[in-house]
Amino acid sequence: MRKIRARFFLLAGALGLLVLHLCKDFIDHKNIHFNINVRDDDFQIKQPTTKNTSVYSWPRCLRNMSAANITGFSSLSGDVQDFLNYRHCRHFPMLLDLPDKCGGVDKSAEIFLLLVIKSSPVNYDRREVLRKTWAKERLHNGVWIRRIFISGTMDTGFEKKRLNKLLELEQREYNDILQWDFKEQFYNLTLKQILFLEWMERNCPNARFLLNGDDDVFANTNNMVEYLQGLKDNDGGKHLFTGHLIQNVGPIRSSLSKYFIPVQVQESDSYPPYCGGGGFLLSGYTALVIFNMSQSITILPIDDVYMGMCLAKAGLSPSSHMGVKTAGLHIPSSTLDEYDPCYYKEVLLVHRFLPAQLYLMWHRILDSNLKCGLSKKWL
Ligand SMILES: *[C@@H]1O[C@H](CO)[C@@H](O)[C@H](O)[C@H]1NC(C)=O
Ligand SMILES: *[C@@H]1O[C@H](CO)[C@@H](O)[C@H](O)[C@H]1NC(C)=O
Ligand SMILES: *[C@@H]1O[C@H](CO)[C@@H](O)[C@H](O)[C@H]1NC(C)=O
Ligand SMILES: *[C@@H]1O[C@H](CO)[C@@H](O)[C@H](O)[C@H]1NC(C)=O
Ligand SMILES: *[C@@H]1O[C@H](CO)[C@@H](O)[C@H](O)[C@H]1NC(C)=O
Repeated sequence: MRKIRARFFLLAGALGLLVLHLCKDFIDHKNIHFNINVRDDDFQIKQPTTKNTSVYSWPRCLRNMSAANITGFSSLSGDVQDFLNYRHCRHFPMLLDLPDKCGGVDKSAEIFLLLVIKSSPVNYDRREVLRKTWAKERLHNGVWIRRIFISGTMDTGFEKKRLNKLLELEQREYNDILQWDFKEQFYNLTLKQILFLEWMERNCPNARFLLNGDDDVFANTNNMVEYLQGLKDNDGGKHLFTGHLIQNVGPIRSSLSKYFIPVQVQESDSYPPYCGGGGFLLSGYTALVIFNMSQSITILPIDDVYMGMCLAKAGLSPSSHMGVKTAGLHIPSSTLDEYDPCYYKEVLLVHRFLPAQLYLMWHRILDSNLKCGLSKKWL
């Protein structure tokens, strides 16, 4: 009898511990949106800003039942149909937030360069290497560089839950992810950008400059800071939008292309000038103008073109920066090493890099023994 009682107590105790553990997990989970993780002593965040918690519980956006009436709808691919059905949806619940990333509205002016990197939940290895290399949060030349990954969700069921859990873990350690509950898909990239801009207006409106780009680029963020610091009379309060300028092009009408845009999505045969979405630099001012314009422009699935549309509506132009090579570097001869660090020491951005190459290149360009003959022509 005594033995059974002892066993019972043991079991009850174990159960109690388990429940406690589960509750702790639940509380941790709930708190993840409000995780304030201060890494640099000089950037102490004293006053947490007020949080607008309604952004965590947006009601589900309903399908547009009239979309199916569009001429030729049934001949379109599932992805395009999906896009047309949900094109009007601009709000999705936030799963991971960073309300104090910029230290509040006023303090956000202390962020000189905010790195806004589009990343799918599965790209864990890319995020890890960026955190250790060009996207490291740091003080460079006396100004702050901060980092944010922007993400949606992937898959369904257990797989989706697992990937969300991964991002949640990363958030606990690095405090650098914004995630919304929409499907991560090529055609949803514009949505991601608009959701970010809305977040920025709410939480970080005075950041001086932003780099907006992909998670598979090599960005020489030190050069970016130096270039931006060298701009005459623009401290982020005036227009700047620069990168790999693309002009005089229009929608690709071939359904085999990744960038296929049928007339049902956009009728016009031309695009305004825009900068390749692999990576471009813009001022905080221009980011907010784009957000304002986006309110009255129907979503086009190709995010970089959409940014160009917003600029055009505001009467602003994107400009070309020869240091941004989103189409890759053009190395004049096949006898030259395309990974010679001297090329990368001078550029602003090159697309695209594998994590291991990126890790190596970042360390090679920072090596003080590196001797190169070139000059920073673009500065
Ligand atoms: C919270 O944010 C939503 C969406 O941006 C906005 O509509 C609402 O007015 C905000 N509420 C407060 C109290 O700021
Ligand atoms: C369009 O779709 C709606 C909703 O399904 C339907 O009620 C309506 O009759 C359709 N209109 C046309 C012109 O087909
Ligand atoms: C639904 O789709 C139709 C057809 O494309 C469009 O005219 C209408 O504006 C859409 N409704 C909303 C709420 O976006
Ligand atoms: C974009 O995300 C929404 C929300 O998850 C989803 O309903 C829609 O199908 C997605 N669009 C595409 C083209 O995948
Ligand atoms: C954006 O719109 C808001 C509200 O209309 C306005 O107060 C703000 O000045 C605008 N911002 C820019 C940068 O144009």
